Amino acid sequence: MNITIQQSPEESSETLVIPVAGASDCRTALAPFEKKLTPAPDRLLKEFSAEAGETLPVYSTDGRRIWLLGLGDNPGFGETLKAFRGFSHKYRKKLPAQLSIYLAPLLKKENGHSLVEAAVNGLCLGTYQIGLFKTEAADPHPLAGSGARLRLIADADTSEKVAQAAASGQTIADTQMSIFNLVNAPSNKKLPAHLAEWARRSGEKYGYSVRVMDKAEIEKTGLYALLAVNQGSAHEPTFTIMEYRPENNSGAPLPKIGLVGKGVTFDTGGLSIKPSTNMYLMKSDMGGAAAVFGTVEAAARLKLPVHLVGIVPATDNSVDANAIKPSDVINSYSGKTIEIIDTDAEGRLILADGIFYMKKHYDPEILIDLATLTGSTVRTLGYHAAGLFSNDDELAGRLFDSGLQTGERIWRLPLWDLYNEDLKSDVADVRNFSGKPIAGAIAAAKFLEVFTAQHPAWAHLDIAGVAFQDSEFSNQKSATGFGVRLLIDYLKRISE
Ligand code: BES
Ligand code: ZN
Ligand code: ZN
Repeated sequence: MNITIQQSPEESSETLVIPVAGASDCRTALAPFEKKLTPAPDRLLKEFSAEAGETLPVYSTDGRRIWLLGLGDNPGFGETLKAFRGFSHKYRKKLPAQLSIYLAPLLKKENGHSLVEAAVNGLCLGTYQIGLFKTEAADPHPLAGSGARLRLIADADTSEKVAQAAASGQTIADTQMSIFNLVNAPSNKKLPAHLAEWARRSGEKYGYSVRVMDKAEIEKTGLYALLAVNQGSAHEPTFTIMEYRPENNSGAPLPKIGLVGKGVTFDTGGLSIKPSTNMYLMKSDMGGAAAVFGTVEAAARLKLPVHLVGIVPATDNSVDANAIKPSDVINSYSGKTIEIIDTDAEGRLILADGIFYMKKHYDPEILIDLATLTGSTVRTLGYHAAGLFSNDDELAGRLFDSGLQTGERIWRLPLWDLYNEDLKSDVADVRNFSGKPIAGAIAAAKFLEVFTAQHPAWAHLDIAGVAFQDSEFSNQKSATGFGVRLLIDYLKRISE
């Protein structure tokens, strides 16, 4: 989609979108069109109160189609994005390939440029088509074709910042949609090698380095916990390392951030097998990996001034005669031994190796891992927020703020050592499950902490409830790309 900035609505293409931030904003948002609307604003306002997602198609006296789009009162980034994404998706059969948005109602707000980014991000995300494996392709979304054009109506003095915000919203959406495809793909078309291939291609395209370890190299390196989970699999594991830093950086040293993502391409539970009813959802058990992939790609595309390292250990967790059994004791890259109590607690095993590898070889200033790790987080926070665990209050605070800003909410849970009780094994250094159906998300975080080697600024995001969700965009649950927007916001803030 080609995006241009224009100063006057007069020059705009036929179809215009006017976003309206709640009932109190209606009059001012419509004032410039006072004499040009049919029906006139007085009557319009009886039919339209600008609630979040409310739309009203009207005409201007010169015959131009105008869509009023409600954002609700005091919309933030998340609300604006949702309204635009819903609009773009719902009216995909009615929208033209050339669209204008009247930005004044957004730019009047304190966080105006971020709302513009949200609007463009949402408009683009609304073009996403989920039917990857349908033999008959759906009609293309009008805004996704090569002739698609978006004109943003904004004053000259803000146009540069508007252009930047719009480009960022579009770029991030593009990466997010690529991530949606990855997460929505079924496990037979998403082997560990495919995840690695995604990263390789992205690195080539956007100029960052990618190194993939195959099974032989994983064995040679001694990533024993990843190998243990992979024992029951018909497919070789991969261990992908992505590294991005901006070209020609001659300024101050860049902050080094390490991201580790759980890449379980399908989680049957292993011998501690899951019930069958919802097992199909476990193709999304690489949502953490997807967040890491998406963040590194988006950071590279946006040329953010950070040094970013992403690590993704990947395997499926399957049932086989060779699969690990409850009671087995396995080794790990850190050298610590682990007693397997439940083979369904596999994510923490592969992360243990990913996190320790990150610490040992890159020692980043900030270490963040993301994983669809526990059902316990879903029971605690539902589908509205991810669990956050951190030993660093500043890091936790910044991530929390980015969560509020982007609508990818996270909520902190404790990491007190009292919970180490859950990790005590009689026969090994640690066990992977307490055996008790309580505090599962915290116990999992305490397990991971062991493999951070006392990293002083570590955060763990348990995204089990938020990576794959019901939405208005699909009939079944589908990928949300959770984490990309959150982490890009965080990276932008720390590098400002
Ligand atoms: N992949 C699951 C966690 C999960 C649950 C993700 C629901 C998304 C939605 C993870 O590997 C798992 O099975 N965790 C177990 C751990 C338990 C056996 C200690 C869980 O949470 O039940
Ligand atoms: Zn599991
Ligand atoms: Zn899992």
